[in-house]
Amino acid sequence: MNNSHGAVLWFTGLSGAGKTTTAEAVLQKLRERGRRAELLDGDELRTVICKGLGFSMEDRFENVRRIAYVANLLSRNGVDVLVSAISPYRAMREYAQQQIPNFVEIYVNCPLHVCEMRDVKGLYAKARSGEIKHFTGVSDPYEEPLQPNIALNTSSMPLDENVQTVLAYLDQMKHRF
Ligand code: PPS
Ligand code: MG
Repeated sequence: MNNSHGAVLWFTGLSGAGKTTTAEAVLQKLRERGRRAELLDGDELRTVICKGLGFSMEDRFENVRRIAYVANLLSRNGVDVLVSAISPYRAMREYAQQQIPNFVEIYVNCPLHVCEMRDVKGLYAKARSGEIKHFTGVSDPYEEPLQPNIALNTSSMPLDENVQTVLAYLDQMKHRF
């Protein structure tokens, strides 16, 4: 724990598992506590600094490399960073962990069939019909974290409890609020 750095909360999980929603709710709480905090969302960054990247293994790695780079810049200036990105390979999350002090891996777990039932953006239907190729969990891998710092379950636990779990973990890290 390096106290001059912010924490980097890295939310990984399937599309539709609740990474963005949970990260946004934690972001709000951190700001209420007077922390400087920013959210780096994979889906959003793919419209700006990660524009043009696809979903091949190489492009997903490049995506995560860019996100980790920005997360590092912010966190070393004392900003708490929340990252929400599928980041499906263990190796890419290990890479991010090696780059970033105060890295916290948060597994946003939700069974595939529940994500598929939610299908918030209609992407699972397109993946099943073959319209979208290399879709995580359907036609592309998702490597579950083996020992995440925090494991959340969004199908069995309400949002506010998951948020409390993350905040309690930060408190226990003696993170300065
Ligand atoms: S990754 O794997 O970390 O590089 O992905 P990420 O940057 O988080 O982008 C995931 C969002 O892209 C949309 N999308 C897809 N996801 C997975 N596989 C495929 N093929 C795909 N195509 C588009 C989708 O909206 C993801 O957003 P979330 O928020 O995860 O649902
Ligand atoms: Mg999202």
